[in-house]
Amino acid sequence: MDEKKTHFGYEEVSWKDKQSRVNQVFSSVAGRYDLMNDLMSMGLHRLWKDEAVRILAPEEGETIVDLAGGTGDLSRRILKRMHGRGQVILSDINLAMLREGVKRLDRSGHLSGVHYCVLNAETLPFEAASVDGITIGFGLRNVRDQAAALKEMFRVLKPGGRALILEFSKMHGPLAKPYDWYSFHILPKMGALVTGDSDSYRYLAESIRKHPEQEILKNNLYQAGFEEVYYRNLLQGLVAIHLARKALV
Ligand SMILES: C[S@@+](CC[C@H](N)C(=O)[O-])C[C@H]1O[C@@H](n2cnc3c(N)ncnc32)[C@H](O)[C@@H]1O
Repeated sequence: MDEKKTHFGYEEVSWKDKQSRVNQVFSSVAGRYDLMNDLMSMGLHRLWKDEAVRILAPEEGETIVDLAGGTGDLSRRILKRMHGRGQVILSDINLAMLREGVKRLDRSGHLSGVHYCVLNAETLPFEAASVDGITIGFGLRNVRDQAAALKEMFRVLKPGGRALILEFSKMHGPLAKPYDWYSFHILPKMGALVTGDSDSYRYLAESIRKHPEQEILKNNLYQAGFEEVYYRNLLQGLVAIHLARKALV
């Protein structure tokens, strides 16, 4: 019988190997992940994350899960917006990334406000209807079974709860071509210089092109059960923020 296949960037890989390939990428770059984010986006990822948390609008007392949270950029912003009065669960499948997150939260004085969890976004260890909000920032693209992850996000949200997806998406307009060139020619070189790993940044460029574009992701969110879905493009769609709400009843 043919083995089930999926993609890892442009490479076809077996379903069972995909997650370990993704884990290798993030274990390899974890220590320099934040520096690379600043360099390759010229600091813009900070504004995108600010905007994502503004759209999520977390309120004091809420419980928010940050999936694929890595070094904790969204968790930290969410906690700040809740004035430290709420529960944030920073989670990731990769312990090396989560460790960097713990270090950064410690440095910024937010350590005690956050819970940590190693988990796979495809199978969440939370009860149904138990959280107010759930985020996944630049993470969904890396998840092997995205439909399963979206369904799990829907399941654990309380009625009226919202899911926020911040992700690279389909760019339109005059910047699309230069951006393509930058992604495939400059990014891997920058990755090699800063992290000693060009392949992981080639994977980044490729995985963005394989990720479902705005309208398809919107439709996938409806398929997962969400009632109200909208998205906002940043920089002509280089990044998109999808917000999806679970029906109240
Ligand atoms: C590009 S980083 C994003 C980190 C952080 N959210 C940010 O915006 O800076 C992607 C993260 O997704 C995590 N990841 C990949 N597959 C995952 C999965 N199936 N479940 C949970 N996390 C996953 C990786 O370990 C990595 O930390």
